[in-house]
Amino acid sequence: MTDVILTGTGLYTPPSAITNDELVTCFNIWVRAENKRNHAAIEAGENQPLPESCSAFIEKASGIRSRYVMDKEGILDPERMLPRIPERNNDEPSVQCEMAVTAAKDAFGQARLSADDIDGVIVACSNMQRPYPAVAVEVQHFLGTSGFAFDMNVACSSATFGLQVASDMIRSGSARRILMVNPEICTGHLNFRDRDSHFIFGDACTAVVLESADVARTEGWKVRGTRLWTSFSNNIRNNAGFLNRAAEEGLGARDKLFVQNGRKVFKEVCPQVAKQITEHLGDSGIPVSDVSRLWLHQANLAMNQLISKKVFGREARPEEAPVILDEYANTSSAGSVIAFHKHSQGMKAGSKGVLCSFGAGYSIGSVILEKR
Ligand code: COA
Repeated sequence: MTDVILTGTGLYTPPSAITNDELVTCFNIWVRAENKRNHAAIEAGENQPLPESCSAFIEKASGIRSRYVMDKEGILDPERMLPRIPERNNDEPSVQCEMAVTAAKDAFGQARLSADDIDGVIVACSNMQRPYPAVAVEVQHFLGTSGFAFDMNVACSSATFGLQVASDMIRSGSARRILMVNPEICTGHLNFRDRDSHFIFGDACTAVVLESADVARTEGWKVRGTRLWTSFSNNIRNNAGFLNRAAEEGLGARDKLFVQNGRKVFKEVCPQVAKQITEHLGDSGIPVSDVSRLWLHQANLAMNQLISKKVFGREARPEEAPVILDEYANTSSAGSVIAFHKHSQGMKAGSKGVLCSFGAGYSIGSVILEKR
């Protein structure tokens, strides 16, 4: 079986950013207006006043300072508090397709490829803007790649699951080069009126090119191994779906957007991620002391510090577990790939690292990479 090489990554970052202070100011304007509107019920003890949000809490609890978004104006309008992303004509590229095409071209540049070199496109992300036709087939059309394309969703772990699928296809000979893209518009499923989670997500799109070693034009990174794990949990859940209209009683309810029990996620997922990385390295014959990078999913700084401490058996140095969530927040499946994209340059041949994502499902995916 052929070796699989990661030859290029690409990134699309939306042009607007929102700081914690901007987000909190808007949230608190809305809270004060709500409390004023409900003044009588609050005075009568029938309602609790809504508590305000606070930038210091957000940074301390999550490590997030800002996030890039597809539409700043709509999110920061206290009367609206959600992005405004107008519908497009069916003949125009959809928003996710446009993000994917930009990130893909960036990755093609690094891999020294053009679109017609690609045999397959996988769009792997948490939310597709429609059920069909697959966004991936649209990306294939607007890029001009040949072969096949399909969508897949494993929430925050979509990229690593996509990388395993792509690697297996290349190893088995069903494709020589695959583009895997992660157009994440997380602000579309975020409840900006929920104090516990309104700060969590941002938008971005990443792209990765995997190739068979015999056709790769750049040195890149050898995929030493991929591993997937899932175990059912309701602690991160979104009940939006095509059957919502068949259950009118639930339309517009909170559970049709992202909801989580953050504390439980933290406690249950961290040990499992550390276990997976450690066992995956061990089974691949790679001592932890040989690993110079953990490109982890970017949801919470303390989570990543805990996981890297468990893996290394000591505190990780900042360059060993790069952080991008301070600037990007949680961009779901794109997060670990952004960390790799921004923090893998200049590493010498033989350097090893693990790209690892985790999230709803629960799901964990790890990809061991070695610089060629
Ligand atoms: N501003 C001020 N206070 C806030 C607040 C806000 N925006 N949001 C919550 N609080 C309060 C809570 O009400 C609670 O108050 P209490 O102690 O009086 O009850 C307190 O702060 C602690 O809240 P808690 O939700 O327990 O905080 P936390 O330390 O668990 O941090 C997360 C919350 C979400 C940042 C954290 O749990 C997390 O990131 N978990 C991992 C989630 C994850 O990885 N998810 C994957 C998604 S794909």
